[in-house]
Amino acid sequence: MLSDKARPIVEATLPVVGEHIEEIANRFYAHMFAEHPDLQDGVFNRGNQAEGSQPKALAGSVAVFATALVKDPQLPERLLTRIAHKHASLGIRPAQYQIVRDNLMWAIGDVLGDAVTTDVAAAWDEVYWLMAYALIHQERGLYSARGVTAERVWRQWAVSEKIQETDDVVQFVMRRVDDRPVKTSLPGQYITVNAPMPDGVRHASSV
Ligand code: HEM
Repeated sequence: MLSDKARPIVEATLPVVGEHIEEIANRFYAHMFAEHPDLQDGVFNRGNQAEGSQPKALAGSVAVFATALVKDPQLPERLLTRIAHKHASLGIRPAQYQIVRDNLMWAIGDVLGDAVTTDVAAAWDEVYWLMAYALIHQERGLYSARGVTAERVWRQWAVSEKIQETDDVVQFVMRRVDDRPVKTSLPGQYITVNAPMPDGVRHASSV
Protein backbone atom coordinates (compact mmCIF):
# COMPACT_ATOMS: atom_id res chain seq x y z
CA MET A 1 0.00 0.00 0.00
CA LEU A 2 1.29 3.46 -0.89
CA SER A 3 2.02 5.54 2.23
CA ASP A 4 -0.07 8.61 3.07
CA LYS A 5 3.05 10.72 2.57
CA ALA A 6 3.85 9.33 -0.88
CA ARG A 7 0.33 9.27 -2.37
CA PRO A 8 -0.20 13.04 -2.88
CA ILE A 9 3.35 13.44 -4.18
CA VAL A 10 2.92 10.63 -6.71
CA GLU A 11 -0.46 12.04 -7.74
CA ALA A 12 0.98 15.54 -8.22
CA THR A 13 4.00 14.36 -10.21
CA LEU A 14 2.25 11.70 -12.35
CA PRO A 15 1.44 14.17 -15.18
CA VAL A 16 5.04 15.34 -15.52
CA VAL A 17 6.40 11.79 -15.31
CA GLY A 18 3.81 10.63 -17.88
CA GLU A 19 4.67 13.50 -20.20
CA HIS A 20 8.37 12.58 -20.17
CA ILE A 21 8.01 8.80 -20.00
CA GLU A 22 9.56 8.12 -23.39
CA GLU A 23 12.63 10.23 -22.63
CA ILE A 24 12.94 8.65 -19.16
CA ALA A 25 12.70 5.18 -20.73
CA ASN A 26 15.36 5.93 -23.35
CA ARG A 27 17.77 7.44 -20.80
CA PHE A 28 17.13 4.53 -18.41
CA TYR A 29 18.02 1.85 -20.96
CA ALA A 30 21.05 3.71 -22.36
CA HIS A 31 22.43 4.13 -18.83
CA MET A 32 21.64 0.59 -17.71
CA PHE A 33 23.15 -1.09 -20.79
CA ALA A 34 26.29 1.07 -20.52
CA GLU A 35 26.72 -0.18 -16.94
CA HIS A 36 25.53 -3.75 -17.56
CA PRO A 37 26.25 -4.72 -21.18
CA ASP A 38 25.57 -8.37 -20.24
CA LEU A 39 21.84 -7.51 -20.08
CA GLN A 40 21.85 -7.20 -23.88
CA ASP A 41 23.20 -10.72 -24.23
CA GLY A 42 20.25 -13.10 -24.03
CA VAL A 43 18.10 -10.99 -21.67
CA PHE A 44 16.68 -7.85 -23.34
CA ASN A 45 15.70 -8.36 -26.97
CA ARG A 46 17.76 -6.03 -29.19
CA GLY A 47 15.03 -5.95 -31.84
CA ASN A 48 12.46 -4.70 -29.32
CA GLN A 49 14.95 -2.09 -28.09
CA ALA A 50 15.63 -0.80 -31.60
CA GLU A 51 11.94 -0.62 -32.42
CA GLY A 52 11.15 1.09 -29.08
CA SER A 53 8.27 -1.05 -27.78
CA GLN A 54 10.08 -2.53 -24.77
CA PRO A 55 11.49 0.76 -23.41
CA LYS A 56 8.00 2.22 -23.34
CA ALA A 57 6.52 -1.00 -21.90
CA LEU A 58 8.64 -1.16 -18.75
CA ALA A 59 8.67 2.53 -17.79
CA GLY A 60 5.06 2.97 -18.97
CA SER A 61 3.90 0.11 -16.78
CA VAL A 62 5.38 1.84 -13.70
CA ALA A 63 3.29 4.93 -14.52
CA VAL A 64 0.16 2.79 -15.10
CA PHE A 65 0.76 1.00 -11.78
CA ALA A 66 1.20 4.37 -9.98
CA THR A 67 -2.03 5.68 -11.52
CA ALA A 68 -3.91 2.60 -10.27
CA LEU A 69 -2.33 2.92 -6.80
CA VAL A 70 -3.36 6.54 -6.26
CA LYS A 71 -6.95 5.67 -7.20
CA ASP A 72 -7.12 2.55 -5.02
CA PRO A 73 -4.56 1.78 -2.30
CA GLN A 74 -4.94 -1.98 -2.86
CA LEU A 75 -2.10 -3.41 -4.95
CA PRO A 76 -3.25 -3.79 -8.58
CA GLU A 77 -1.76 -7.31 -8.74
CA ARG A 78 -3.70 -8.25 -11.87
CA LEU A 79 -1.70 -5.66 -13.84
CA LEU A 80 1.40 -7.68 -13.12
CA THR A 81 0.54 -11.24 -14.15
CA ARG A 82 1.58 -10.89 -17.79
CA ILE A 83 4.83 -9.15 -16.83
CA ALA A 84 5.61 -11.83 -14.24
CA HIS A 85 5.07 -14.57 -16.85
CA LYS A 86 7.37 -12.76 -19.28
CA HIS A 87 10.05 -12.34 -16.59
CA ALA A 88 9.74 -15.97 -15.46
CA SER A 89 10.26 -17.18 -19.03
CA LEU A 90 13.52 -15.19 -19.07
CA GLY A 91 14.84 -16.31 -15.69
CA ILE A 92 14.74 -12.79 -14.19
CA ARG A 93 16.17 -12.82 -10.64
CA PRO A 94 15.25 -10.72 -7.56
CA ALA A 95 18.75 -9.16 -7.39
CA GLN A 96 18.28 -7.66 -10.86
CA TYR A 97 15.44 -5.48 -9.53
CA GLN A 98 18.01 -3.33 -7.73
CA ILE A 99 19.82 -2.69 -11.03
CA VAL A 100 16.58 -1.64 -12.75
CA ARG A 101 15.63 0.54 -9.76
CA ASP A 102 18.98 2.35 -9.65
CA ASN A 103 18.94 3.10 -13.36
CA LEU A 104 15.26 4.05 -13.50
CA MET A 105 15.59 6.47 -10.56
CA TRP A 106 18.74 7.87 -12.15
CA ALA A 107 16.84 8.48 -15.42
CA ILE A 108 13.91 10.16 -13.64
CA GLY A 109 16.38 12.52 -11.92
CA ASP A 110 18.31 13.11 -15.13
CA VAL A 111 15.22 14.01 -17.17
CA LEU A 112 13.19 15.94 -14.57
CA GLY A 113 16.15 17.67 -12.88
CA ASP A 114 15.41 19.89 -9.87
CA ALA A 115 11.74 18.83 -9.86
CA VAL A 116 12.94 15.56 -8.29
CA THR A 117 13.32 16.65 -4.67
CA THR A 118 14.24 14.13 -1.97
CA ASP A 119 10.52 13.64 -1.19
CA VAL A 120 9.61 13.11 -4.86
CA ALA A 121 12.42 10.58 -5.27
CA ALA A 122 11.33 8.74 -2.11
CA ALA A 123 7.67 8.61 -3.26
CA TRP A 124 8.59 7.09 -6.66
CA ASP A 125 11.01 4.72 -4.99
CA GLU A 126 8.07 3.51 -2.92
CA VAL A 127 5.99 2.92 -6.06
CA TYR A 128 8.88 1.05 -7.65
CA TRP A 129 9.44 -1.31 -4.72
CA LEU A 130 5.71 -2.01 -4.26
CA MET A 131 5.68 -3.12 -7.87
CA ALA A 132 9.02 -4.91 -7.72
CA TYR A 133 8.19 -6.94 -4.59
CA ALA A 134 4.79 -7.91 -6.02
CA LEU A 135 6.49 -9.06 -9.25
CA ILE A 136 9.25 -10.91 -7.38
CA HIS A 137 6.54 -12.66 -5.34
CA GLN A 138 4.53 -13.69 -8.42
CA GLU A 139 7.67 -14.82 -10.24
CA ARG A 140 8.77 -16.92 -7.27
CA GLY A 141 5.34 -18.62 -7.41
CA LEU A 142 5.71 -19.32 -11.14
CA TYR A 143 9.22 -20.78 -10.75
CA SER A 144 8.14 -23.00 -7.88
CA ALA A 145 4.95 -24.11 -9.71
CA ARG A 146 7.21 -25.64 -12.35
CA GLY A 147 9.93 -26.81 -9.97
CA VAL A 148 12.69 -24.57 -11.34
CA THR A 149 14.80 -21.71 -10.04
CA ALA A 150 15.48 -18.54 -12.03
CA GLU A 151 18.95 -19.91 -12.81
CA ARG A 152 17.51 -23.16 -14.20
CA VAL A 153 14.83 -21.95 -16.60
CA TRP A 154 17.20 -22.39 -19.54
CA ARG A 155 17.83 -25.80 -21.02
CA GLN A 156 19.11 -27.10 -24.32
CA TRP A 157 16.82 -28.73 -26.88
CA ALA A 158 17.54 -30.40 -30.20
CA VAL A 159 15.49 -29.76 -33.33
CA SER A 160 14.39 -33.24 -34.41
CA GLU A 161 12.20 -32.19 -37.32
CA LYS A 162 11.60 -29.09 -39.42
CA ILE A 163 8.29 -29.02 -41.28
CA GLN A 164 7.66 -26.36 -43.94
CA GLU A 165 3.96 -25.64 -43.33
CA THR A 166 3.58 -22.77 -45.84
CA ASP A 167 5.98 -20.44 -47.69
CA ASP A 168 6.59 -18.42 -44.54
CA VAL A 169 5.66 -20.80 -41.68
CA VAL A 170 8.02 -23.50 -40.42
CA GLN A 171 7.18 -25.89 -37.60
CA PHE A 172 10.11 -27.08 -35.46
CA VAL A 173 9.69 -30.30 -33.51
CA MET A 174 11.91 -30.17 -30.41
CA ARG A 175 13.44 -33.07 -28.50
CA ARG A 176 14.91 -32.83 -25.04
CA VAL A 177 18.60 -33.63 -24.71
CA ASP A 178 18.78 -33.69 -20.90
CA ASP A 179 17.16 -36.00 -18.37
CA ARG A 180 14.87 -33.34 -16.86
CA PRO A 181 11.13 -34.01 -17.20
CA VAL A 182 9.12 -31.94 -19.68
CA LYS A 183 6.26 -30.28 -17.82
CA THR A 184 2.98 -28.93 -19.17
CA SER A 185 2.75 -25.16 -19.53
CA LEU A 186 0.88 -22.95 -17.07
CA PRO A 187 -1.96 -20.78 -18.45
CA GLY A 188 -0.39 -17.53 -19.71
CA GLN A 189 3.11 -18.97 -19.77
CA TYR A 190 5.59 -17.66 -22.36
CA ILE A 191 8.12 -19.79 -24.16
CA THR A 192 11.39 -17.99 -24.73
CA VAL A 193 13.98 -19.19 -27.21
CA ASN A 194 17.50 -17.94 -26.58
CA ALA A 195 19.63 -18.41 -29.67
CA PRO A 196 23.12 -17.14 -30.57
CA MET A 197 23.19 -14.63 -33.45
CA PRO A 198 25.98 -14.47 -36.08
CA ASP A 199 27.78 -11.79 -34.00
CA GLY A 200 27.86 -14.17 -31.00
CA VAL A 201 25.30 -12.26 -28.91
CA ARG A 202 22.37 -14.37 -27.70
CA HIS A 203 18.92 -13.18 -28.73
CA ALA A 204 15.90 -13.98 -26.54
CA SER A 205 12.49 -14.10 -28.27
CA SER A 206 9.31 -14.84 -26.34
CA VAL A 207 5.97 -16.10 -27.59
C1 HEM B 1 9.41 -3.13 -11.16
C2 HEM B 1 10.27 -3.52 -12.10
C3 HEM B 1 9.90 -3.96 -13.48
C4 HEM B 1 8.81 -3.63 -14.24
C5 HEM B 1 7.67 -2.71 -13.89
C6 HEM B 1 8.93 -4.34 -15.51
C7 HEM B 1 8.01 -4.26 -16.54
C8 HEM B 1 8.09 -4.98 -17.72
C9 HEM B 1 7.10 -4.97 -18.76
C10 HEM B 1 5.80 -4.15 -18.75
C11 HEM B 1 7.51 -5.80 -19.73
C12 HEM B 1 6.79 -6.14 -21.04
C13 HEM B 1 5.90 -7.34 -20.79
C14 HEM B 1 5.25 -7.87 -22.04
O1 HEM B 1 5.85 -7.86 -23.12
O2 HEM B 1 4.12 -8.33 -21.92
C15 HEM B 1 8.78 -6.34 -19.30
C16 HEM B 1 9.54 -7.22 -20.04
C17 HEM B 1 10.84 -7.53 -19.74
N1 HEM B 1 11.49 -7.24 -18.56
FE1 HEM B 1 10.77 -6.23 -16.99
N2 HEM B 1 10.09 -5.06 -15.49
C18 HEM B 1 10.71 -4.85 -14.28
C19 HEM B 1 11.88 -5.43 -13.86
C20 HEM B 1 12.73 -6.13 -14.66
C21 HEM B 1 14.03 -6.62 -14.28
C22 HEM B 1 14.64 -6.49 -12.89
C23 HEM B 1 14.59 -7.21 -15.37
C24 HEM B 1 15.95 -7.83 -15.50
C25 HEM B 1 17.04 -7.11 -15.53
C26 HEM B 1 13.61 -7.13 -16.43
C27 HEM B 1 13.76 -7.66 -17.70
C28 HEM B 1 12.78 -7.71 -18.65
C29 HEM B 1 12.97 -8.32 -19.96
C30 HEM B 1 14.28 -8.96 -20.47
C31 HEM B 1 11.76 -8.23 -20.64
C32 HEM B 1 11.45 -8.69 -22.06
C33 HEM B 1 11.85 -7.54 -22.92
C34 HEM B 1 12.17 -7.81 -24.34
O3 HEM B 1 11.48 -8.58 -24.99
O4 HEM B 1 13.14 -7.19 -24.79
N3 HEM B 1 12.49 -6.46 -15.97
N4 HEM B 1 9.10 -5.84 -18.06
